[in-house]
Amino acid sequence: MKKTNSIGIFDSGIGGLTVGHQIAKLMPNEHIIYFGDTKHLPYGDKSADAIKSYSKKITEFLIEQQCKMVVIACNTASALAFKEVLECCKGLAIVLNVIDPVAEHTSKSKAKKIGVIGTKNTIASNAYSAKLGELNKNVTIASLPTPLLVPMIEEGFYNDKISTSIISNYLENKVLENIDHLILGCTHYPLIEDEINKYYENKVVIVNSAKIVSQFVKKRLQENKLLASVPSKNSHLFFVSDYTKSFEQSAQYFFGQRISFTEVVL
Ligand code: DGL
Repeated sequence: MKKTNSIGIFDSGIGGLTVGHQIAKLMPNEHIIYFGDTKHLPYGDKSADAIKSYSKKITEFLIEQQCKMVVIACNTASALAFKEVLECCKGLAIVLNVIDPVAEHTSKSKAKKIGVIGTKNTIASNAYSAKLGELNKNVTIASLPTPLLVPMIEEGFYNDKISTSIISNYLENKVLENIDHLILGCTHYPLIEDEINKYYENKVVIVNSAKIVSQFVKKRLQENKLLASVPSKNSHLFFVSDYTKSFEQSAQYFFGQRISFTEVVL
């Protein structure tokens, strides 16, 4: 592993771009290889076996690109395929999921009742409640699956009437009553962070995994003496398993116009 090698990031679609964007902002010297598994999106309601298999194939691809680190920028894959990804990367790359950093960060806060929203798979896996419960016994965790949010965001519905109505419908759920923190347990959700804040009138702390994960990425690279010390000469690379206009538009929104895309059949 060399400092100049890339950071590999993957998600089922555009969600992980929120993490990629924060990583690029915090560590501008780093070169990023992003993989959006648009062919298999959404991961939120697929079987665990399917998610493990997609995650393994993507990881193998990122390892072939000699990534020094693989960031599973998808909560669903982090909840269901972390072990498999670790196995593929053994001795070859560092692996980071998005759940552990967020749970660690939130467990150290003043939170008393933490809400978690995510895909059906992430919530059913109990990954957040297990980790948070293990780190802080005094906290109450209230989890709610919010499956409509990913297709809504992928279709470009945010900051409009449709998204406001769907978001309030979910957040009004009794389960989330009296929460003081809300974990955005899906990497797509930072795109609707402002709307969620508006719903809560800024009275609930919104935990945005993209920012927290990027700080953990930096820490892990520093610990392993793998943080790039000079700017990469190459532009970030974006791979998708199925080209979609919405992916290209979102990637350009986060990373500017001059980005190259390659479709890869896994
Ligand atoms: N962005 C992903 C997550 O964090 C998954 C969305 C999906 O594919 O269902 O869970």
